[in-house]
Amino acid sequence: MARPMSRPVPKSFHVKSFGCQMNVYDGTRMAELMQEQGMVEAGADDAELVVLNTCHIREKAAEKVYSDIGRIARRDGGKPMIAVAGCVAQAEGGEIPRRAKAVDLVVGPQAYHNLPALIAEAASGTKAIDTDMPAASKFDALPSRRNAGPSAFLTVQEGCNKFCTYCVVPYTRGAEVSRPWSAVVVEARALVERGAREITLLGQNVNAWTGEDEAGRTQGLDGLIRALDRLPGLERIRYTTSHPNDMTDALIAAHGEVESLMPFLHLPVQAGSDRVLKAMNRAHDVASYLRLIERVRAVRPDIAISGDFIVGFPGETDAEFEETLAVVRAIGHAQAFSFKYSPRTGTPAATMTEQVAEAVMHDRLQRLQALLSEQQFAFNRATVGRSCQVLIERQGKSPGQMLGKSPWLQSVLIDGGRIGDLVDVEIVAAGPVSLNGRVTERIAA
Ligand code: SAH
Ligand code: SF4
Ligand code: F3S
Repeated sequence: MARPMSRPVPKSFHVKSFGCQMNVYDGTRMAELMQEQGMVEAGADDAELVVLNTCHIREKAAEKVYSDIGRIARRDGGKPMIAVAGCVAQAEGGEIPRRAKAVDLVVGPQAYHNLPALIAEAASGTKAIDTDMPAASKFDALPSRRNAGPSAFLTVQEGCNKFCTYCVVPYTRGAEVSRPWSAVVVEARALVERGAREITLLGQNVNAWTGEDEAGRTQGLDGLIRALDRLPGLERIRYTTSHPNDMTDALIAAHGEVESLMPFLHLPVQAGSDRVLKAMNRAHDVASYLRLIERVRAVRPDIAISGDFIVGFPGETDAEFEETLAVVRAIGHAQAFSFKYSPRTGTPAATMTEQVAEAVMHDRLQRLQALLSEQQFAFNRATVGRSCQVLIERQGKSPGQMLGKSPWLQSVLIDGGRIGDLVDVEIVAAGPVSLNGRVTERIAA
């Protein structure tokens, strides 16, 4: 047997994240861990280690990993050490280096704290694989926060117990776990100290978060939000993604009472037919979903509603798809994501008979997306003339132009201001996906 080829431990890294915001968050934490080890961040073409932080949610996303691996292995600067992290790593584990020999390291989402050891192992010439889901939290073993932009992510909850019949998340991310209250508060404080003015609390089912506060009282996400609202310097709080069944009365009330809680709610309904929702194992029906939206709007009339939709779930008829369009019309979205159903091995829906033809799904998706885009444009137009605050996140394309977010999570282009400023703006024009604003306060140049 050939002896494994050893090589120097990489000194630079590049993390490329795909999928949901939780992956983006994990990517930041991995980068911080590697920086703590003395490694420096570099571009994808030069880094000695490239980490692909992958998503397994749909087949296209998962398959893309393999073409990326091939491209990185053949890059001009020579092949770097290649690590696969994220949900494909969790789902496929040791299969990945068997299928793509260029892969040196596989690390699942619950094992990131072991990265330094895995990198050393891979450098010694062995394929390093860790997809364990240990009982102890990886978060405790990760270094404290070093980086934060004006708008930061903070994972407070991981995993899912809902088992929607189409979805891989309960398998790739495991059971629902909430991070402890104190850990969240400490991390939020660290982020604010490093410049964050907005924090988005993340979880696959973030509104299932539960924990005990300093006084030992059981709290839900609403309690956590109220505590973070009291953090000096933290101006805005958001959370995503929520499940309708965990939308408690207290969380709804918080939307009417907590000023820093932004008027935006991502609450996926997925489909508009009760039969399809049942087959999806969503455990809510259309009427109960619409009632929730009504109640949130009662306490926060300007709330921007976002969601996720799947078209072409096995057995979905034309009439059932029309019900989805009807529900979309009834809700009125500020934005939304919509997808063709993608069968995932190991999920119950993958073996259901009556898979819907690709051409039918394509047509349904076009129609749904046309309607959702129309709604987004209408929502944007309705903000014209309004005054609001914009949190500046980065520079725009033209000189002097800055880009920030409205309270309703719309992108707003303004002239002037600095990254991290929260400025008073009047919305003067609306496009399909962004707004133009005029700064109405005096700001430093
Ligand atoms: N936990 C979140 C979302 C997780 S995945 C929730 O339940 O809302 C993000 C979205 O991807 C889902 O809301 C769903 O719309 C979509 N999705 C998940 N599995 C899919 C599949 N097999 N095919 C197509 N879309 C899927
Ligand atoms: Fe997937 Fe459903 Fe869990 Fe969301 S609630 S992560 S769609 S199983
Ligand atoms: Fe994708 Fe995993 Fe997130 S499958 S959507 S990266 S939880």
